[in-house]
Amino acid sequence: MAELRLPPMSRPEGGKAWPSEEKGDLRTFSVYRWTPPEDGEEAARPRLDTFTIDVSSLGAMVLDALIHIKDNIDSSLTFRRSCREGVCGSCAMNINGTNTLACTQRMEDLRGDIRVLPLPHMKVVKDLVSDLRAAYAQYESVGPWLKAGGEPGERERLQTPEERERLDGLWECILCFSCSTSCPSYWWNSEKYLGPATLLQVSRWVEDSRDGGDDERLADLDDEFRLYRCHTIMNCTKTCPKGLNPAKAIAGLKRRVMERGRVRT
Ligand code: SF4
Ligand code: FES
Repeated sequence: MAELRLPPMSRPEGGKAWPSEEKGDLRTFSVYRWTPPEDGEEAARPRLDTFTIDVSSLGAMVLDALIHIKDNIDSSLTFRRSCREGVCGSCAMNINGTNTLACTQRMEDLRGDIRVLPLPHMKVVKDLVSDLRAAYAQYESVGPWLKAGGEPGERERLQTPEERERLDGLWECILCFSCSTSCPSYWWNSEKYLGPATLLQVSRWVEDSRDGGDDERLADLDDEFRLYRCHTIMNCTKTCPKGLNPAKAIAGLKRRVMERGRVRT
């Protein structure tokens, strides 16, 4: 029978309850903590540290609270962030059970205590920082650049407004990997299944009228795993913090792969 519980060393245990700040609009955060062992040290279990802080003078987002904790309570708390406005994708994490961006998740939209974990089913580098190297290697494997073919022309490769519109809903992806890490198919087959984030990127190039690599791109997907491990569970679309629809992009790729097969037989 399948083991559905996390292995013991992956299950967070109770951590340190930091002294509460004293007054104001108090909110409690449970934050995942894990530090990789040094050479010769035994690995410790992850833990959930508790911070109760006054959020009344902070910005509105969960990221503002994490920055406050790091600046004022525990400087060793580790997380990624850069733009603070939902365009770089680096602050993706799991907040109260949903993968999202800490910089666009408003605290007032979350009830009760706020639980902050790294993206699920990824190795952890430290605390809230997931190891995305394998996901980026998959992204690189699909050639996410224009494959125009032929000699450079005398001028730009133009698109009609209609051709440009076909990229809407695709170009906005910020590669936060919230979608891929919410997908059970990706959890179980992440070495072979490309996952929604990377597949949406394939769709972005296949739909681009300036790109000449469609056949090569679609042939690369035509096996049992890279595309077809998508079982239309739809977690990807439900969780995308940019409101995109990776499931629709994947369905479009399946149709294109099928049509390509029909033409060839
Ligand atoms: S489709 Fe949405 S959730 Fe997935 S990587 Fe792009 S922005 Fe993030
Ligand atoms: S810090 Fe850039 S998306 Fe959140």
